[in-house]
Amino acid sequence: MIDAKLISVEVEKLFASIEFTGEPAGLYDPLRYMIGIGGKRIRPTLCLTACGLFCDQLPREVYDCAAALEVFHTFTLIHDDIMDRSPLRRGVPTVWKKWNEDTAILSGDVMLIDAYKRIAKAPARCHAEVMDLFSKTAAEVCEGQQYDMEFESRTDVTMQEYEQMIGLKTAVLIACSAKMGALVADASPAACEALYRYGYQLGMAFQVADDYLDAYGDEKVFGKPIGGDIINGKKSWLTIRALQKTDNPEAFLKVFGADATTPEQRQDKISKVKQIYDALDIPNDARAEIRRCSDLAIEAVRDLPCDIAPLRDFSEKLIGRAK
Ligand code: IPE
Ligand code: IPE
Ligand code: MG
Ligand code: MG
Ligand code: MG
Repeated sequence: MIDAKLISVEVEKLFASIEFTGEPAGLYDPLRYMIGIGGKRIRPTLCLTACGLFCDQLPREVYDCAAALEVFHTFTLIHDDIMDRSPLRRGVPTVWKKWNEDTAILSGDVMLIDAYKRIAKAPARCHAEVMDLFSKTAAEVCEGQQYDMEFESRTDVTMQEYEQMIGLKTAVLIACSAKMGALVADASPAACEALYRYGYQLGMAFQVADDYLDAYGDEKVFGKPIGGDIINGKKSWLTIRALQKTDNPEAFLKVFGADATTPEQRQDKISKVKQIYDALDIPNDARAEIRRCSDLAIEAVRDLPCDIAPLRDFSEKLIGRAK
């Protein structure tokens, strides 16, 4: 088993050593920018944490896999911010805002290719499995992102459909990160599957928390604009739950569908939607749901033949997040 502090030092070192060289600078500058500002780096951290459950020293090749996961994730963020028209990420302007949409598309594309170059360095022993897992996951993220956009114009999205959508856009990559670490550590197939289920449930909790923070977070800490989901008509966990609970869905949908062109209209809409969420006690429900999913995550790894304390610590840290 490897200590969490050591893993965080290793993740820092890993990203400090990554260089995106090449020309033209206009293509690679956004990559340097996004990796430079960093994020929580939960996916590579989870990959190394899972790997460390099964060995005393991290194998060299796990670092390329961990880097690939974060580079892929960052690519999805660059494109997501165009799709969500979001001006702020990690407390700084998004790539499409700082440069332009064309640059964000192309720099995102080359970042996806960079992620593939890194994942292709997986050890020969598990190469095919790692590549299959990564490609399957990458396609699923696109599927989830498409559902997410399609749901914007629908008012009849069920909780089941919402769960399928966030399972695809968010949970599968976190599941893939956990399983990847176990695969590279040569853990048993049963252990690899248990880690996948752990990551998946944690990913569900993570997206519900993201939806919650999108409405109730502190922009300075969260690093993203507060209320963006409401303005975009996103079917977040809060929205779906409100539609389940309210006895007047028409009234809620009227407020939720109100025009939000001017800054005043936007602020007004955000505060009115949040008033309804508050009256229905949705924030508490969200907290209970985050806890329920993280309990399921731990349940999935309960029978692993190793000390699962690092997985407990990781999930507690993640669900207590404010950013
Ligand atoms: C944001 O992911 C996208 C979601 C899946 C909610 P993170 O919250 O991990 O973003 P960074 O990498 O820390 O900025
Ligand atoms: C993000 O969903 C999922 C992916 C980036 C694949 P969101 O759109 O909620 O993520 P944020 O809130 O912009 O980080
Ligand atoms: Mg989005
Ligand atoms: Mg977004
Ligand atoms: Mg979000």
